[in-house]
Amino acid sequence: MNTTTRHTLAVDCRALTKQYGQGENAVQALRGVDLDVRTGEMTYLVGPSGCGKTTLISVIAGTLDRTSGSCHVFGDDVASWGERKRAAWRGRNVGFVFQALNLVPTLTAAENVAVPLMILGEGHDAALKRAATMLERVDLGARTRSLPAQLSGGQQQRVAIARALVHEPRLVVCDEPTSALDHETGQRVMELLRSVASRDDRALLVVTHDSRIFALADRIAHMDDGRVERVESAPSSH
Ligand SMILES: Nc1ncnc2c1ncn2[C@@H]1O[C@H](COP(=O)(O)OP(=O)(O)O)[C@@H](O)[C@H]1O
Ligand SMILES: [Mg+2]
Repeated sequence: MNTTTRHTLAVDCRALTKQYGQGENAVQALRGVDLDVRTGEMTYLVGPSGCGKTTLISVIAGTLDRTSGSCHVFGDDVASWGERKRAAWRGRNVGFVFQALNLVPTLTAAENVAVPLMILGEGHDAALKRAATMLERVDLGARTRSLPAQLSGGQQQRVAIARALVHEPRLVVCDEPTSALDHETGQRVMELLRSVASRDDRALLVVTHDSRIFALADRIAHMDDGRVERVESAPSSH
């Protein structure tokens, strides 16, 4: 596939299915998903618990194999590659923000943020310097040496966002990033995510339950029972 002709399409899923388990224990988590995610946009993925949101973003991010159908990310069929090539692709191209923050408790904020860079082979000092700069962009420049336990929930989520963005990934996937935060903090974290992460060459895909932050999205994909039922362009002012 020629990637240059698809530059505005970050993610292109067609008839995507995912079955967990076999036989009696089989669960059809995805039942034929069609979805486009464009660069330069923040796309929300919403729907009831158990409808397949986490499964879908895991397949898109290359951490879970599909059962059938297709899923191209920036023109590449990542699932067709071996695990080593896939892991390298993920490390370079994808930033993750989870509900459970997954910060390493024994590392400072800056060290946590530096991890993706070190995995990519950047030297310790250079990585820490870039991490500190990234923390400044999420208004945590004064807390680079703090351990996660010394930060509030909202601050920890901002560290997680900094870590997801520090290596300048083309795709940022967030799974319920605000569900552990109170509404006001969640709103601020999402506004910050939007302002620091939005770039013409990057796509943001955010799973959320929180209808109060829908106004921040450019596009909202509604999922139910393993399918994307409809996609609406949000009536936002952005
Ligand atoms: N590892 C797994 N093994 C078996 N079933 C799973 C697994 N992960 C998720 N499921 C099932 O797949 C369906 C979709 O789950 P999930 O993608 O986590 O939904 P959501 O994120 O929308 O809550 C649910 O029925 C869930 O129980
Ligand atoms: Mg989920």
